[in-house]
Amino acid sequence: MSAWPKKHLLSIEDLTADDIHRLLELTDHMVEINHRPIPKVPALRGKNVVSLFFEDSTRTRTSFDTAAKRLSADTMNFTVSASSVNKGESLRDTIETISSMGVDAFVVRHKSSGAPVAITKWTNASIVNAGDGWHQHPTQALLDCYTIRTRLNRRDSFEGLRIAIVGDIKHSRVARSDVQAFAALGAHITLVAPPTLLPPSVADWPVDVSHDLDALLPHLDVLYLLRVQRERMDDALLPSLEEYSALYGLTTARAARLAPHALIMHPGPMNRGVEMVVDPSELPGSAILDQVTNGVAVRMAVLFTLLGASGDLRSENVS
Ligand code: NCD
Repeated sequence: MSAWPKKHLLSIEDLTADDIHRLLELTDHMVEINHRPIPKVPALRGKNVVSLFFEDSTRTRTSFDTAAKRLSADTMNFTVSASSVNKGESLRDTIETISSMGVDAFVVRHKSSGAPVAITKWTNASIVNAGDGWHQHPTQALLDCYTIRTRLNRRDSFEGLRIAIVGDIKHSRVARSDVQAFAALGAHITLVAPPTLLPPSVADWPVDVSHDLDALLPHLDVLYLLRVQRERMDDALLPSLEEYSALYGLTTARAARLAPHALIMHPGPMNRGVEMVVDPSELPGSAILDQVTNGVAVRMAVLFTLLGASGDLRSENVS
């Protein structure tokens, strides 16, 4: 059953497992385009993609921008520090003003959960959620699925895969989106965190919870580390970063306990010496740079699906 493409990509909940699979198949085409000597196709010529980032970001903004350009869309970057939002303009006025210039898609990052949904009411453009508060970061989850699918050769299903997501789950939109996407594809997920960094209730999440990373390590196919989000902690949720690191940080000794095939993933930016103690470039299982590379291709697949002429994932337009 397909629920997508709709007009927007706001949440992984918008997608069925079939939709995710079809997006990942389309991503294979985009990877092929990205390997060409001139990695550019005319698929979105004449479309205007505007990035609206109300929160700091380097990799996600650059990744969407590269994706749109490789599909020949026109792009415009709008960052809050350079905008009249600083002069007191409301989010709605900002959207309505830019929309009037003719926008086909807004790529939105905002510190408030739900901002991308609100924006859908003020414009006819497609909205792609590039991260809202603690809520969702759907393209991160898709690029993570694509990375696991290709590195572990799991094209059809994640059935039987054991994935641990470790760290600051409470503040993490990546964890919320990843849990939904990995579960939709059939993986078994364990959240590993100190109790203070778990959400108040995970009863309705399709996960197990553990506080003992060391016991889990040898059984994992994927170790997914999250950043400790110091900027989002309003009270002392951790006794100290040293203690966090001692219990949950990836050290050389912990990496050695992983199965040889196991992947190590992180959405970036990494806190070296906190959750990432070892240098990941020394670990053959590190898929962290693959995640970044795949991010461009996945975002090309999303933009093409939302804005491509036919909306057909298998459209000839991309080849
Ligand atoms: C993540 C985010 O912003 O949600 N990073 C990213 O998209 N590159 C994770 C994080 O900030 O820790």
